Amino acid sequence: MTTASAPGKIILVGEHAVVYGRPAIAVPISKVKATATVEETPRGTGCIIIAKDLNRTIRVAQATFDDPLAAIVRSTLVHFRAQDLDATITVSSTVPVASGMGSSAAVSTAIARALAGHLGNTLNNDILAALVFEAERLYHGTPSGVDNTVIAHARPVFFVKNRLVETFAVKSPLRLLIADTGIPSSTRVVVEDVRKAREANQEKYDAWFRQIGQIALMARAAIIAGEQFALGALMDGNQWLLEQIGVSSPEIDRLVQAARQAGALGAKLSGAGRGGNVIALTTEQTQDTVLNSLRHGGAANVIAATIM
Ligand code: MEV
Repeated sequence: MTTASAPGKIILVGEHAVVYGRPAIAVPISKVKATATVEETPRGTGCIIIAKDLNRTIRVAQATFDDPLAAIVRSTLVHFRAQDLDATITVSSTVPVASGMGSSAAVSTAIARALAGHLGNTLNNDILAALVFEAERLYHGTPSGVDNTVIAHARPVFFVKNRLVETFAVKSPLRLLIADTGIPSSTRVVVEDVRKAREANQEKYDAWFRQIGQIALMARAAIIAGEQFALGALMDGNQWLLEQIGVSSPEIDRLVQAARQAGALGAKLSGAGRGGNVIALTTEQTQDTVLNSLRHGGAANVIAATIM
């Protein structure tokens, strides 16, 4: 029996613009994770995936090519030139679904890792991210690749599409609160809406994306220097731009305000938006006040995470 897991993630700055080639910063959230276990079964039984949280049982040999759970199994087997797997792969996850925390990438990463272990192999992080990216396309249409990259590397990343990923050190711990609006967020739908809106108004959208890219560059410098006040202000600036782009929502705005009023250094949506999670950067002193304010502001759930 082989088990592997993968963390969730949040995007600190840069979502949406990252789809158009601008940089983004994402960090892993290890408080939530997906876990996959591979157990050998008798010869001829084939490969079955049991996804408990999704209430799904999939026979890989019979699954359609666009089933993302079967796809990550198939592509991992092809990578290792393995055939005829007789095994049950059981998947479970505490990463909230449709909330901007990378649940699909975490599940695919855990499956690929566990399968590699079962075959007596390992996957380096770049290859793992590439295999998971193919499954991510089946879930989300035209993703940038940031989710699979940060989750495979399990380190803070400075990500630009189609470039080698940069990991970097965080000088002083980032105390984040991740507050769930309780509204599902579909990356596929929101990314597609942004694409259509950009088509109708390309100059404006490209200018907003350019500004978000500059924020990501400055945010990396702020994190490396341990300048948390600067990082908070950049997160606020990023939220304003995301509002212009049209991916915020009244529920997100309410939680962002609740966090700021209680003394957060900065607050913004994280992920595709329209729902999903709001992230707030706090100090050790303000963390509890901001957390209570987010709860009173209507957060369905709040996760506290410290990024080192
Ligand atoms: C989703 O976590 C982040 C988006 O930028 C989409 C993507 O990068 O694929 C909205």
